[in-house]
This record gives sequence, C-alpha cells and structure tokens, in this order.
Amino acid sequence: MSFVYDIPTKVFFGEGQIENLGAQLSVYGSRVLLVYGGGSIKKTGVYDKIVAQIKGAGLELYELSGIEPNPKVESVRRGIEICKKNKIDVCLAAGGGSAMDASKFIAAGACSDEDIWTIVSKKIPVTKALPIVTVLTISATGSEMDPTAVLSNMQTNEKSPMSSPLFFPKASFCDPTFTYSVGANQTACGSADILSHLMEVYFNRNQNLFMLDRCMEGMMKTVIKYAPLAMHEPDNYEARANLMWTSSWAINGFTSGCNKAPWSCHPVEHQLSAYYDITHGLGLAIVTPRWMRYVLANDDEQGSRAQKFYEFGVNVFGIDPSTGKNQAAEMAVEKVEEFFYSKLGLKKSLSEIGIGREHFSDMAKKAAECGGGDCVNGWQKLYAADIEKIYEACLN
Ligand code: NZQ
Ligand code: ZN
Repeated sequence: MSFVYDIPTKVFFGEGQIENLGAQLSVYGSRVLLVYGGGSIKKTGVYDKIVAQIKGAGLELYELSGIEPNPKVESVRRGIEICKKNKIDVCLAAGGGSAMDASKFIAAGACSDEDIWTIVSKKIPVTKALPIVTVLTISATGSEMDPTAVLSNMQTNEKSPMSSPLFFPKASFCDPTFTYSVGANQTACGSADILSHLMEVYFNRNQNLFMLDRCMEGMMKTVIKYAPLAMHEPDNYEARANLMWTSSWAINGFTSGCNKAPWSCHPVEHQLSAYYDITHGLGLAIVTPRWMRYVLANDDEQGSRAQKFYEFGVNVFGIDPSTGKNQAAEMAVEKVEEFFYSKLGLKKSLSEIGIGREHFSDMAKKAAECGGGDCVNGWQKLYAADIEKIYEACLN
C-alpha cells in the first residue's frame, strides 16, 4: 500500500510547555480568538496561564466561551462572526475535542462566505482556514493532532465529521498536569474513545500490517494499564502522560495512513450522540462489544475474524495462546466488556442511560448512509438492517 505520511502539527509535550504559547501564537498574527467550553479552564488555572502568555506576547485577546460537549453549529456560527468582525488571525482552542473541533470549523468558516452547516453537510472542501493552535485539557479524541472535526446540529439530529489538511493544528500544547482535574467518569469516557480509535483501524479490511498491528497493540495496552490508574490517582503524571500521548498517536494518521478503510463503531455511535447528546466515549463503550459479537457471528469460512480476535486477546489482554481460536475470540470480547464496564465503570446498555428503540430505524439509516453510500463499508459491510440489530443488542 502506498501512502503519504504528513503530520504537520508541532507538539509541545510535558509540564510547563505552556511557557512557549505566546511565542508560537505570535508566529501566526496578533489577534487571537480563545475558544473554550463551560469553564473548566477557569477552575483549573489554565485560563490564567493562557491569558498571561497572550498578554505577555503583546497579542490581542478575543474570547468565545460556552462550547458545549458535542459542539453545536450555533456556537460555531458565533465564533465565525467574532473572527470576521475582528479580523482574527489565529484560533486558539483550550479544552477537549469539543473546543478543538469547534475551533477547526470556526477557522474554516471565518475564511468562507458559505454557512458552516452547508459546508459540513454538503462536504464542501475547505480550501482556506485560519491557523489553529490548541491547549489540550482532556485525553480522548486526538483532535490536537489530527485533521478531523465533528459538528452537531440538534435541529436536524445530525452529527457530521469532516476532515481537511487545514484542520491539523499548527501547534498543540499537551501538558498532562492540565488533565489532573478530569473526573473519573470523563477519564473513563476519554479512554474508551482512545481505545476505540485503535480498534477501528486494528479490526479492519486491510490485514497483514504487522508493524502497525504491534504498535496498536502497544497503545491499546497503554490505555488498559493507565486509564484505571488515572481514575484512581488523578494526579499520577505517568498515567496522565501515557494516556495523553496515546490519545494523539491513536488517530493522528500514523496507524490509519495506509489503512484508510472506513470505521464501523464511530458512525454507529455518532447517531446516538446526534439524537441523545450522550458522551461520545460512553456511546462507543456500549456499541463496541455488540459490534464485535455481530461481526464474529458473521465470520467468513476461514474464520479470519475469529483469528484476529484471537491475536487481539492474546497480545492485548494476555489470554493464554494455547486457547482455541474460537474460544479465545469469545474471551477477547468478554475482556473488552470487563474493561469498559468493570474497570472503567461505564454504563453497560442504552436502557441504563434512558435510550429506547424509538429512533433506531432512522438512526441506522443515517449511520449506513453517512459515507455517501448505502452501508458502513468497514471490516464487515453494515447496512441499515445490520446497524439496527446492533442498536437492539445495545438495549440491555
Ligand atoms: O466544557 P468544559 O468546562 O471545559 O468541561 C469539559 C466537558 O464538560 C470537561 N473537561 C475538559 N477538560 C477538563 C474537563 N473537566 C475538568 N478538567 C479538565 N481538565 O470534559 C467534558 C468533555 O469535554 P469534551 O471536549 O466534550 O470531550 P472530548 O475531548 O471527549 O470531545 C468530544 C467531542 O469530540 C468529538 C466527539 O464526537 C465529541 O463531539 N470527536 C472528535 C474527533 C476528532 N476531532 O478527530 C474524533 C472523535 O472520535 C470524536 O468523534
Ligand atoms: Zn472517537
């Protein structure tokens, strides 16, 4: 397989790296729009550090606060307006995937006359965008080092991803101490998301990627080892640092660069967030084991899925390699369930979070068609009927 490796984000990793923020921002101009969420950065003191850097470098500060989890199109429109009115030079996101993704859309919308939802829903290629810089405060989405952003429109119950090389942040500041304040549940959800990003590429059509498979197994083991530790010891630097660097590398294009097959659990989950505004990582933790069982039940004659689950179970969860292939495959799914529901303490089913089957049919259709065709074209083609069955399995 041929591919181009190009990850242009400059990463400032480690405690105290925020000291370089002012100088980095100055490279891109003098008017900075700081985009953040519901206020966690004010409680933790990250806001003060950022403002000190901006002021110290003699830059002009504009602010957009209140970016909600699963960022909404209305907030992005507000940001675009601020950029256009004040001739903003650079978008600075401080937070998690929601603040970073919102900044990416704001950066694109600021350079276009088109409404941002038209750009997203019609997948109009982004040809110009303001430079984006991020300060990461939660390990999860990898948006700090990837070319993707996801936007929600609750009027139409849609949640759409979009990618552009212009969405790679120019620079990202990843200080693990900034994630000490992330609560146990958000740490669990973020970790489930990181694990899912790895599993989406690992369990896919292009096989025989030996080097990448071993790298992904190492990253998955990192999440499994450190997520519970970070939940119980929130200020454990080693745990937070390992999770943070894994969140970036799980999705920055390193693993998927030569394995571009579509993902399976993400489109299925995005419909749950689109209809019910649930936390992305929680939705993935509910969907993923059901998806695993579904594709295993529809294995090919050679049992190649069972074989991959066997490898995963042995190499990631330490299942005894002498276990039979099919039994090990089944045990691997159970290990994933145990990790999500016992070790991370995440909710197990849709009914536990108050979701019933009333929209399954519409959600399944939207998920199946989100790539422009009639199915999610991943490891196993998932048509609307398949996805509906997976949602049903998620109920209890
Ligand atoms: O809003 P604030 O007050 O900052 O609180 C946030 C929010 O409530 C809080 N938080 C963040 N850092 C904290 C903190 N609380 C205490 N201390 C800190 N240091 O955590 C909550 C969740 O934040 P959010 O940004 O929503 O989480 P996450 O990073 O998981 O982002 C989720 C969004 O990213 C999208 C998801 O779909 C969702 O919309 N994704 C983006 C991807 C990408 N760009 O490549 C890929 C992913 O698969 C995902 O789809
Ligand atoms: Zn994700």
